[in-house]
Amino acid sequence: MSRVYNFSAGPAVLPLEVLQQAQEDLVDYKGTGMSVMEMSHRGKDYSPIHDEAIATFKELAGIGDDWSVLFIQGGGSQQFAMVPMNFLGAGQSADYVNSGTWGGKALKEAQVVASLRGATVNTVANCAKDIPARMPTADEIKWTEGAAYAHICTNETISGAQFKTIPTPAAGVPLIGDMSSDILSCERDYNKFDMFYAGAQKNLGPSGMAVVAIKKEFAAKGAATLPTLLKYSTHLDNNSLYNTPPTWAIYIFGLVMKWVKKQGKENLFKLNREKAAKIYSVIDSTGFYRGTALPEFRSDMNVTFRLPTEELEAQFVAEAKKLGMSSLKGHRSVGGIRATIYNAFPMEGVDALVSFMKDFEKKNG
Ligand SMILES: Cc1ncc(COP(=O)(O)O)c(C=O)c1O
Repeated sequence: MSRVYNFSAGPAVLPLEVLQQAQEDLVDYKGTGMSVMEMSHRGKDYSPIHDEAIATFKELAGIGDDWSVLFIQGGGSQQFAMVPMNFLGAGQSADYVNSGTWGGKALKEAQVVASLRGATVNTVANCAKDIPARMPTADEIKWTEGAAYAHICTNETISGAQFKTIPTPAAGVPLIGDMSSDILSCERDYNKFDMFYAGAQKNLGPSGMAVVAIKKEFAAKGAATLPTLLKYSTHLDNNSLYNTPPTWAIYIFGLVMKWVKKQGKENLFKLNREKAAKIYSVIDSTGFYRGTALPEFRSDMNVTFRLPTEELEAQFVAEAKKLGMSSLKGHRSVGGIRATIYNAFPMEGVDALVSFMKDFEKKNG
């Protein structure tokens, strides 16, 4: 078996233990004579998989019985539309922080819904195009009193900027977070939010679904006149079993949650900080590499940097690949290098990258 150090931003590396467990269970799950993929989503063998996955996630996020956890198809992107469809009513307004590609995409979907409904979207801060990349500071954000909700993206996967402190919207305004690329990766008070969600394919499991955590009280405020599957209340009232959910993805998500629990959250969070710090320290120790995010907003999940020329960047990516380090090329919209190091990315892979970076600079600097 040969596995590479996979720096992909998503779908991304999964814990090897999880893949091996899935392999063991693949054709005969615990003596049931069938794969999880082949089971009825309403059967007695599948139910505990579903319910345990939710319970472990809630435990890890530190959210209680006033919250529901939903599995919704369409990934993170569908949440960009479902949020305003459910919570931005005619005549209301919602606050959006435009912090980059993803905060901007969420904002754009909200504008589509707002224009159909006669509602307003307030861009309460905009640093999407800033170079170096960053998040807005707390005093830059012009929150709106009485907004229906406020939306932020906690970690911009492409630019590599991350909120280190979660901003607080105007009093009484529910906060919604897109946490696709940093959920369960660092210390965070999830109870500051009324809803948060993540496309699963980064820190949680396979692609194709979003894991949505929503306060029951907030979900109850959702619009009633929507197609069934676009209402949070449908998923909530039916424990995400109104239609056939992505059972295999949920099963892997459950295994990943057990793995996170086994590592110990605190250990994992500490390791994440150390992994990122090692790469940033190489970047800071030279004039050869140039970090693309402001130091105080540097993401611990997506480390972005440039080399002196695009030719050197291409050479860097190609040589790293030969050494078993894949997917270091930055997103096509921004170029450069992006080393994505989610929870399941091992420290050995970071060490391999760090030593390669030093070597590459010696030869080409
Ligand atoms: C921060 C963030 N939000 C949302 C998305 C969209 O998720 P999906 O591709 O599951 O629709 C992504 C995808 O990379 C992302 O990084």
